[in-house]
Amino acid sequence: MSQTVTYAVEHGIGVITIDNPPVNVLSTAVRRGIRDAVRSAQDDASEAILLRCAGRTFIAGADISEFGKPLEEPWLPGLCNEIEASRKLVVAAVHGTTLGGGFEVALSCHYRIAQASSRVGFPEVNLGLLPGAGGTQRVPRLAGVPAALDLITAGKPIAASEAASLGLVDRIVETDLDAAALAYACELVDSNAPIRRTGELDVAAVDPDVYTRVRAELERRARGQTAPQRIVTAIESATLEFADGLARERELFMECLGDPQSAALRHLFFAERKAAKIRGLPPATIRREIRQVGVVGAGTMGGGIAMSFANAGVPVTLVEVDDEALQRGLAVVDRNYAGSVARGKLDEPGAAECRARITGTTDYGGLADADLVIEAVFEDPGVKRDVFARLDAACKPGAILATNTSYQDVDAIAAATSRPGDVLGLHFFSPAHIMKLLEVVRATKTADDVLATCMALAKRIGKVPVLAGNAYGFIGNRMLRGYMREAQLCLLEGATPEDVDAALAGFGFAMGPFAVADLAGLDVAWRARQALPESERGDPRAYRVADALVEMGRLGQKSGAGFYVYDPGARKGRKDPAVLEVVERCARELGVERRPIPGGEIVDRLVLALVNEGLSIVGDGIAQRPDDVDVVYVHGYGFPAWRGGPLYFGDHLGFERVLERVGEFRARYGADNWRPAPLLEKFADSGSTNELFTDDTA
Ligand code: 3HC
Ligand code: NAI
Repeated sequence: MSQTVTYAVEHGIGVITIDNPPVNVLSTAVRRGIRDAVRSAQDDASEAILLRCAGRTFIAGADISEFGKPLEEPWLPGLCNEIEASRKLVVAAVHGTTLGGGFEVALSCHYRIAQASSRVGFPEVNLGLLPGAGGTQRVPRLAGVPAALDLITAGKPIAASEAASLGLVDRIVETDLDAAALAYACELVDSNAPIRRTGELDVAAVDPDVYTRVRAELERRARGQTAPQRIVTAIESATLEFADGLARERELFMECLGDPQSAALRHLFFAERKAAKIRGLPPATIRREIRQVGVVGAGTMGGGIAMSFANAGVPVTLVEVDDEALQRGLAVVDRNYAGSVARGKLDEPGAAECRARITGTTDYGGLADADLVIEAVFEDPGVKRDVFARLDAACKPGAILATNTSYQDVDAIAAATSRPGDVLGLHFFSPAHIMKLLEVVRATKTADDVLATCMALAKRIGKVPVLAGNAYGFIGNRMLRGYMREAQLCLLEGATPEDVDAALAGFGFAMGPFAVADLAGLDVAWRARQALPESERGDPRAYRVADALVEMGRLGQKSGAGFYVYDPGARKGRKDPAVLEVVERCARELGVERRPIPGGEIVDRLVLALVNEGLSIVGDGIAQRPDDVDVVYVHGYGFPAWRGGPLYFGDHLGFERVLERVGEFRARYGADNWRPAPLLEKFADSGSTNELFTDDTA
């Protein structure tokens, strides 16, 4: 037996314990260990078998790092079948997060007992995969086809109580799982409980239209993704003989595994976890306690930031300039919570509990107890410095002072305080209570423990943190500059906002650049431009239209019009001929001749601008590693996750090809906008892709 799996007979029950920290994944050694233990239990004195895990969770799934390498015996589907075929009754005792292959192992046991606090589910779809060890065949047999479709295509874990109501768990325990599980196994033996093999059950008949409906819904919700559709096909096959259904599931799983989408999503899984690590920072760095948070400014960002903390159980004090602004901000928070209830994200009492954690004031004295204060006032250096001087006076020693600035120099903001070591940037993305990215901006004097605290805190509030250097636009907005430049140039040269947005949505972006600009507010970038001397604003053709719209009072969704026009309460804009008039006027004034621009050119110009700038950011040391750039763009800017992020995409397109295309654009559109990043030239030259995504985390 392997070291990660041990076996002992206790009170007549053969107890198999998996101990493979941190999350008990099904490595080859674990699979072998379970197989050997189940086999030896068949012939010993035990009366039943109990499968349990040590540590913080039951099995959290297959070992993702083994995918893409030759699969070693025993394969998981065969192991699950062997468990199910056991002559002795097998009970699984689950706690923590029982996911993917881990849940499939549990479902192949004959009975399941779960800790009340635990969660179970199938996150495979998030990795471009489907449950490949019987999940798509056993769940429909136990819980029915509609529940299987919901659970497996959503990829989100559910509470043990919900799993029990679906028939996926037999018993829930509030306390000591180990003792309860042993007692449960003894009780089943004493009562001569039958060995229940899920594979022997029939699937309850359903209306065949259910598959068509779910496929259409997924076509909309998971546009461009292949795994969700394959999941539906696999579940549809559950009506076949069990062995045939399993074989079909296997085929579809192998198709997913070989699909570039899955490789890209697996890259992101590890990239996200790597991004949370700061090179050179000792893992033992002691973090500060964050129990109470303050947010200054209750506008677009402040309210959402407050909600992110309140939703994670942290009380928040919102500070505004006057009562009117405060009430306006709190009303938006109320509307957002009502929206969360309407969309089923929170129930009424849950929303009320979160909302009650947010209090408002116009007095900076209300921040005296805050452990962390995040400033989200206008993007104006003078206003920000003034706020930080007031925070310096109002906050207790050791409080962390963060700015949500999009572009400002964090060192200059820190210099307005007497404690620059406590200052950093925490750059949230809009809408802040929903978007997962958090850029953690390290200023020159930011203390290590401040960074370590904020990286851990980000995880606590459900964000994906990425460390960024203190440079104009940090990582994401610096990349956005080139991307938006090309979007606006395409607009001037002949495209409409709808053309550009449709091309990028076709590539897989959640929203096109102009729809995003309207959502963020055109005044944010406008203010940032105003703060720069004219010489640093870049190509005037790249912002003339946006400036003209702001001057007309078209600030985006918040004013009912921007690049599109918005009906009251609508989030989706309508085409507005007035915008085309502005574009045509600006083109005339700037001497730009308009022509039809093919969608392919629009995509290449915008996406390759991201690739080039992303590599220049890595080269400049603003991002720690290429993977971080991918995480930023996927989680903050809607880059399609199944394409792995801009640099993964560039790597797979081939950097030689990227450089060639950048060269074409340089020749056609000028060297100022198209300067190949030194790293692009280097990677194109070496032809090596390995260099880019090697694990470098110390
Ligand atoms: N394979 C390999 N490594 C894994 C892993 C997995 N399935 N799950 C977690 N890890 C690693 C992480 O990379 C991380 O490593 P690091 O410390 O070196 O960075 C470490 O375990 C801890 O992970 P987290 O930081 O994510 O820990 P959390 O406590 O925040 O979260 C978790 C725990 C909820 C289990 C989360 O890790 C998770 O969601 N894991 C993935 C679960 C999953 O996708 N399972 C399905 C796999 S596919 C499958 O089973 C196919 C089957 O159907 C055939
Ligand atoms: P906003 O204009 O919606 O809100 C700013 C709020 O700050 C206003 O309600 C204003 O009354 C308040 N305020 C101004 N001075 C104040 C002071 N001295 N004390 C207390 N409150 C004060 O602006 P928004 O969009 O929320 O932006 C805030 C910050 O977040 C800016 O730095 C911006 O660059 C950044 N940001 C904005 C994003 C966006 O998409 N809107 C995304 C990420 C960052």
